[in-house]
Amino acid sequence: MHIPSPSSTEFQFGVRSFFLNWLIITPFMALFGWFNMVVRLGLPVSHEVFLGPLVLGFLVSILIAVLNTKGFIKKNEIERAKIQELNETQVEVILTLSVVAEARCGEMSAHVKRVAEYTGLLAQLAGLPDEEVFLLKSAAPLHDIGKIGIPDNVLLKPGKLTPEEFSIMQEHAEIGYRLLANSTKPIREIAALVTRNHHEKWDGSGYPQRLRGEAIPICGRIVAIADVFDALGTERAYRKAWPMTRIRDYFQEQSGKHFDPHLAQLFLDNFERFAAIRKQYE
Ligand SMILES: [Fe+2]
Ligand SMILES: [Fe+2]
Repeated sequence: MHIPSPSSTEFQFGVRSFFLNWLIITPFMALFGWFNMVVRLGLPVSHEVFLGPLVLGFLVSILIAVLNTKGFIKKNEIERAKIQELNETQVEVILTLSVVAEARCGEMSAHVKRVAEYTGLLAQLAGLPDEEVFLLKSAAPLHDIGKIGIPDNVLLKPGKLTPEEFSIMQEHAEIGYRLLANSTKPIREIAALVTRNHHEKWDGSGYPQRLRGEAIPICGRIVAIADVFDALGTERAYRKAWPMTRIRDYFQEQSGKHFDPHLAQLFLDNFERFAAIRKQYE
């Protein structure tokens, strides 16, 4: 949910209010001047007859517009605070849900927070509108929610998965999609797309639909980079955490294979910013 910037809407409201008042008040003021000075006092018709009432009409219009705008600003501030609170509650609920789901497979809660942060930054670098950046960043923690439908013997297996187990594990993308689809709420819609597409690869070798290139929704391509970046820097039972230099090389090598080359380039050009997020939420 995007909150419009206060200055532009409130300025426009003030200007509109002034012109409306001015159009209503000024003719009455001019009529008032003409009636009193020409009809009642018998003065000759000249511009002085109208000048005073016109200036007064102008000043009164400004005064009313200022008072109206003040009321409008106050009302807007209350509305904005309400929307902000709703947004924050929504994001907190999503984070809690994601942390619970990830905890089942031993993933740390910081992982989903970091993935959300990287996603927000990359979406912004990719030039997505503010509202989409907000939605995608809020939905990103849910990328692996489908793992709640994977049996423990596969999900918690410490060693390497057999091909059969791996194909069971891959189902988490579709399970997550089915959990979140069929909603008209924007965060759930985008979260459904993220869960389904975060394991697709640019060259078509990913899953579940083996989509290729721009057929993969951009939200999936962005979260893929965020998720892999975080996973490689995290120690696993079967391998140590990769140092940043190795991760950078990996992204260079996988650009155009696993990852969207344009997004991978944006990521590499701003690598230090992503590494700083990792440090901040270690
Ligand atoms: Fe996943
Ligand atoms: Fe993940």
